[in-house]
Amino acid sequence: MNCTAFSAQQTCVMFIVCLWLAGCTESVYQRMNDPARDEWQNPQLVVAKLAIAPSSRVADLGAGGGYFAGYLAKAVGPEGTVYAVDINDTALDIISKEMKLRGITNVLPIRAEPNDAKLPEPVDFVFSSNTYHHMKDRTAYFKSLTRYLKPNGRVAIVDFHPNGFFSGKLGHGTAKEDVRREMESAGYRLTADYDVIDRQHFQIFIRE
Ligand SMILES: C[S@@+](CC[C@H](N)C(=O)[O-])C[C@H]1O[C@@H](n2cnc3c(N)ncnc32)[C@H](O)[C@@H]1O
Repeated sequence: MNCTAFSAQQTCVMFIVCLWLAGCTESVYQRMNDPARDEWQNPQLVVAKLAIAPSSRVADLGAGGGYFAGYLAKAVGPEGTVYAVDINDTALDIISKEMKLRGITNVLPIRAEPNDAKLPEPVDFVFSSNTYHHMKDRTAYFKSLTRYLKPNGRVAIVDFHPNGFFSGKLGHGTAKEDVRREMESAGYRLTADYDVIDRQHFQIFIRE
């Protein structure tokens, strides 16, 4: 038997599994954009705390379905740009469709690599929500991210506290102290530490 060849039946099963997985990913991103999330995520307050100047260039790192990108787009205004950065094509497709639907023209999807944000220009602010715990070699990542930050550029990290079944047992969170330690090792200094989201920590760092 030739092990490298798949039967028509096997190919068909694999195709169905791929379709199911693709649909599943899309529905996961759509769930992240559920307006009911606003009740605990408090996106308007979070973005207000960033104190982003109009016309800024901002990267939403790990933008997902674009939940925060719309709020960031409003903060930078028509002269500003939000780069919605993600490594997942489904996420980027959803962002493109969502922004078109909402008439938002200053959000540009960027296809990143896991170790490179692939930004087309240095930005004033990198905002990252619920993504930090997904990233590998974070100190190296954020050290190298400084090449995409303007002088005095800032980085905000929002992530789940590592408690509760989902965030604790399944590793879907990071300790606030770990974020701080890793960011300091990467060459950043903590400038703000907000306690405004029950389930998450929210810290802002500046490039030293
Ligand atoms: C849980 S989602 C959060 C989405 C969004 N920030 C939100 O709060 O709704 C995490 C996203 O980060 C992306 N991601 C993971 N590692 C990444 C990396 N190294 N660079 C860019 N995006 C990444 C994933 O593809 C996923 O879309």
